[in-house]
Amino acid sequence: MNDGVWAAPGRVNLIGEHTDYNDGFVMPFALPHTTVATVARRDDGVLRLHSADIDGDGAGPFELRLDELAPGGGRGWTDYPAGVVWALREAGHRVGGADIHYESTVPAGAGLSSSAALEVVTALALNDLYELGLERRYIARLCRRAENVYVGAPTGIMDQMASACCTDGHALHLDTRALSLRQVPFDLRAHGLELLVVDTRVKHSHSEGEYGRRRAGCEAGAAALGVNALRDVPNDALEDALARLDDPEVRSLVRHVVTENHRVERVIAHLEAGEVRAIGPLLTEGHASLRDDFHVSCRELDLVVDTSLTAGALGARMTGGGFGGSAIVLTESSSAHLVAQSVQEAFASASLDAPRVFTASPSAGARRLS
Ligand code: GLA
Repeated sequence: MNDGVWAAPGRVNLIGEHTDYNDGFVMPFALPHTTVATVARRDDGVLRLHSADIDGDGAGPFELRLDELAPGGGRGWTDYPAGVVWALREAGHRVGGADIHYESTVPAGAGLSSSAALEVVTALALNDLYELGLERRYIARLCRRAENVYVGAPTGIMDQMASACCTDGHALHLDTRALSLRQVPFDLRAHGLELLVVDTRVKHSHSEGEYGRRRAGCEAGAAALGVNALRDVPNDALEDALARLDDPEVRSLVRHVVTENHRVERVIAHLEAGEVRAIGPLLTEGHASLRDDFHVSCRELDLVVDTSLTAGALGARMTGGGFGGSAIVLTESSSAHLVAQSVQEAFASASLDAPRVFTASPSAGARRLS
């Protein structure tokens, strides 16, 4: 017996990388890949979690007592749903036990927000089951808190907002400071275009130090410039700002964030003018900035980008946190097959594991299925 079934998607980010924890702008869209939770309420204060196929850490069932949930991380995939229950209860919401079975088609560790999908589907299910009446942006914030405090990964809010708030056929233009959002129509097929996602199969992990180091460097930059966050440095004030920073590492982090926020604006302007092909070079520029200024790319991601561009793609970049994970490639539909094949061949020639390549279409955010 279950009380309902819910789904929450993974995402790719079109543009706006490592800007969310700088109060900046992002533009993700939801993938058709989802994590599905089949949930039954239980009244004995126990959270029982099991999964058909969540990578690596065992399927369970795992039984956790609600009153014993405590931040700390390091306990595998159950930290994400357990963290959500912890965050809900800590915020004063009356959530009891649940029996939850998860199945997921979101590739884990691929930079496609499998953890946000797991968090958001759990929060949405409990919100409905326990009639909490929480709105989606609030749910996303609680899920981020689960990830930051319970799991211990210092991420921004993009992934949870994407999973909770994206809509079919749109990219989500999100101001991560105001949490204001706009659904921007994003129908590539109508323009004869395709967006490929290439999962390099190099696993990334955000709880490890590199992501946190970038974040700390950005905060140091903002403090040195006397602003609340790097969002407050406009692109036309960039050169002045850079001249005021002594630390070369901080300087290049700042340059990435400021130019990346500006790229989000330029991408939006092109999309609104119907100039979809024109976003290609901006994606590629974003990749160069992540590679050379932010230092979060890796050999495999660079190989995807370089090979696709050589094969005729309009633009390509890593997506998500980096250090592995996935890249996106914008291409004419007519050359998508050739581009994908070239990437596969380049990986084979470099003796790398075959990447997983698929076409992404903007899909629906989290929802109740039954
Ligand atoms: C990860 C984090 C996000 C964001 C991206 C980089 O996906 O979870 O909050 O910082 O990296 O843009």
